[in-house]
Amino acid sequence: MRTQVVIVGAGPAGTLLSLLLGDAGIDNVVLERQSRDYVLSRVRAGVLESGTVEILRRAGVGERMDREGHVHDTVNIAWRGSELLSVDTVDRVGKRMMAYGQTAIQEDLYAALDDRGRPPVFEAADVELNGLTTDRPWVTYTGPDGSTERIDCDHICGCDGFHGVARQSIPAEERTEYGKEYPFGWLGILSETPPLPILLYANHTDGFALCSMRTPMLSRYYVQCPLTDAVEDWPDDRFWSELLGRLPPSQAERIVTGPSIEKSNAPLRSFVAEPMRYGNLFLAGDAAHIVPPTGAKGLNLAVSDVHYLSQALIERFGSGSTTALDDYGPLALRRVWGAVRFSWWLTSLLHRFPDQTPFDQRAQEQELTYLSSSPAAQTALAEQYVGLPL
Ligand code: FAD
Ligand code: DHB
Repeated sequence: MRTQVVIVGAGPAGTLLSLLLGDAGIDNVVLERQSRDYVLSRVRAGVLESGTVEILRRAGVGERMDREGHVHDTVNIAWRGSELLSVDTVDRVGKRMMAYGQTAIQEDLYAALDDRGRPPVFEAADVELNGLTTDRPWVTYTGPDGSTERIDCDHICGCDGFHGVARQSIPAEERTEYGKEYPFGWLGILSETPPLPILLYANHTDGFALCSMRTPMLSRYYVQCPLTDAVEDWPDDRFWSELLGRLPPSQAERIVTGPSIEKSNAPLRSFVAEPMRYGNLFLAGDAAHIVPPTGAKGLNLAVSDVHYLSQALIERFGSGSTTALDDYGPLALRRVWGAVRFSWWLTSLLHRFPDQTPFDQRAQEQELTYLSSSPAAQTALAEQYVGLPL
């Protein structure tokens, strides 16, 4: 079989890219290792930058998001027990965020591809990338029925996440990796309870906490936990009591508790692989970079990578010019490093580190005091939280 672009991974990056390329008349095939149900069962991101919202609308998958998403005008930080800093992003930088879950975005993207008769190939095992530095690369895989398949193409896009095959297909001596692991994780739950109307981050001596939402009857909460903790260590009662204890009493009393319907833990890491291109292979999204979730940037970066990459491929197949493809990696990386730095900074500001000294503690409190009193600092936070321009 032959196509113009093979896309590895049917997460948000791979499926949005497929939609944008297909609608521009570029033939493509998406290969996904997991089943559709498995991908849709993963609970992940929840907060979209205004640029992401625009890109999804332009791709024709904004209708349900605009109907069901919850617009946020503020980002709120609780600290020192009862202090509450509220930064109005509309006042500061004229933009707002949208709370709309990654699972819903993924459903919308699959539905759009189904409507066009171009669904991904699910349960594609043993994906291997070949001939990456030639004009005729090819991909082999084992189909769901056990058959061995081969697809020849012009370009391969690696949208297969942090643990995928694409980045690993670039010879080690051709890539530089920058990484940082944090000494804690996040324990997250979904509960069918009404969420707080605001997005609330908390810095507390017992550790970080976050209150977010999915729908008017679906809440998403996180607490910082040791990396060694398992989900079983966090029965619902313990989770709620830790969460409420880390929030200011004025907010804690507004939280409606209830049984969790999903519970998972995630380590926190920062990671960037450069360059984002090797021959005719292009990386996008978590395949090339990871940020700790504190800044709500991972999905947003996947979408901005795909925005740049789709435009470059459309130019390449339209006018034949490869200039935009040559510029893709450096252009995407400028935005990636902006989000990597912001996510690292917000993570450092809001979490309790195991080796935190009284000096570190006072310095962290001073930064929050400064943020609370400085309009300039709040503008810098708002500008980065709603997303740097594309
Ligand atoms: P993925 O979603 O990882 O998709 C990659 C796909 O490739 C997967 O479906 C995988 O099965 C498939 N795949 C892997 N290997 C292969 C292979 N060999 N062959 C074929 N297919 C393969 N981001 C935000 O912007 N805002 C937030 O609020 C936010 N909150 C988060 C909260 C948590 C707890 C977590 C864990 C993440 C959060 N993120 C957030 C990050 C966000 O979820 C990711 O950045 C996003 O999923 C990246 O999309 P992707 O398509 O690049 O990668
Ligand atoms: C979610 C929200 C956030 O603001 C964030 O930083 C990470 C995750 C969420 O709703 O899942």
